[in-house]
Amino acid sequence: MPLKITVIGTGYLGATHAAAMAELGFEVLGLDVVPEKIEMLQRGEVPMYEPGLEELLRRHVAGIEGSTGRLRFTTSYEEAGAFGEVHFVCVNTPQKHGEYACDMSYVDSAFDALAPHLTRPTLVVGKSTVPVGSAARLAKRLAAAAPAGEAAELAWNPEFLREGFAVQDTLHPDRIVAGVTSERAEELLREVYATPLAEGSPFVVTDFPTAELVKTAANAFLATKISYINAMAEICEAADGDVVKLAEALGHDERIGKKFLRAGIGFGGGCLPKDLRAFMARAGELGVDQALTFLREIDSINMRRRGHMVELAREAVGGSFLGKRVAVLGATFKPDSDDVRDSPALNVAGQIHLQGGQVTVYDPKGMENARRVFPTLGYADSPLAAVRGADVVLHLTEWSEFRELDPAELGDAVSERRILDGRNALDPGLWRKAGWTYRALGRPQA
Ligand code: UDX
Repeated sequence: MPLKITVIGTGYLGATHAAAMAELGFEVLGLDVVPEKIEMLQRGEVPMYEPGLEELLRRHVAGIEGSTGRLRFTTSYEEAGAFGEVHFVCVNTPQKHGEYACDMSYVDSAFDALAPHLTRPTLVVGKSTVPVGSAARLAKRLAAAAPAGEAAELAWNPEFLREGFAVQDTLHPDRIVAGVTSERAEELLREVYATPLAEGSPFVVTDFPTAELVKTAANAFLATKISYINAMAEICEAADGDVVKLAEALGHDERIGKKFLRAGIGFGGGCLPKDLRAFMARAGELGVDQALTFLREIDSINMRRRGHMVELAREAVGGSFLGKRVAVLGATFKPDSDDVRDSPALNVAGQIHLQGGQVTVYDPKGMENARRVFPTLGYADSPLAAVRGADVVLHLTEWSEFRELDPAELGDAVSERRILDGRNALDPGLWRKAGWTYRALGRPQA
């Protein structure tokens, strides 16, 4: 009999994990406290844009024609407790309002709601990104509140999925990290991940704190790489160097590697910025804040990128945004996602709007979310409509759609052929040939 798995929390992480577990052959029950989300998922609809996820859901959600029926959803913890042999906790841990620390209230509530229904031996597996030390605390809380006592065991198994590649990253993880305190927990996790393990995914077995730290340390490292190359972009700009060539040449050194060296307006999203800050806050609580003071610099280099983009745009339109039209291509924090959380693109658009510019935004998938966050910006339903009459065009999220734009066609619509490439992703030669003044961050102007 395949294992029965519940997945608690059906956001990016949970919805993808639930569908992936069904794909791997398990019986899965997804739980969320928001009934509207559950109704959508039960119809096979995904509450966000994530390539491949809807197809995966429709292949498994019970009640959809031709599905395996292995995946169902509920809002009831009682049902989840009775159903699952392994419970994955995938709720979010956002940044606390006005503080660096992360808000553990969703995780704590999920554990508190589930525990009273754990009457037989079970494994609860934490996947959320949490401050180091949380798992040990939650294990005690679980054992105290579950009727099964210590037989309701905890494991920590962080998730490394990237938005836009969530399905692929979940089905073919580049490593599986298991923080466990017993052989039984390790065996159960090996059973859950038997398919990726057979395909060669490395399995790292460790203790709770190390497992929790792998996630935050990985995200801090990625953020550091991005801010490092962005610091080099600042130097290149001052010295007339080319950060794109520099990154290419650095990347040939295998010890450095090519990935995460794309200079631009910096990182955003629901993970890197808040994980960085929560990591610093936790180091402070542990009395080792000096170990991570460099992350403060990583964060400030990153935030400086947004301000720099605004300055370049203001300079391009003659020193003031008043009476100027600014077209913004891209609203999401990265391409292939509809997520606008802490999006550098929208932040730049918002700053320009606040400084009196008339901003029109276009994004292939993020318009609905962007409108909700920034209702006062202008929105257009195509790149051509967005750039009409523009004094400057800003390319702020590197969707492939923007690389395919015809600079000549756009050139006929704008007021001035000026483009600032905030992601170093367009072909400068192509735009300049069509008569545009093309400028990118950290690259020579002409
Ligand atoms: C990240 C981690 O990559 C993932 O492992 C973790 O599980 C969750 O956080 P994600 O937030 O989906 O994933 O985005 P990611 O692809 O890491 O990009 C983050 C940000 O960095 C984006 O805003 C992106 O535009 C920016 N970025 C990325 C750069 O500016 N330059 C780069 O070279 C790479």
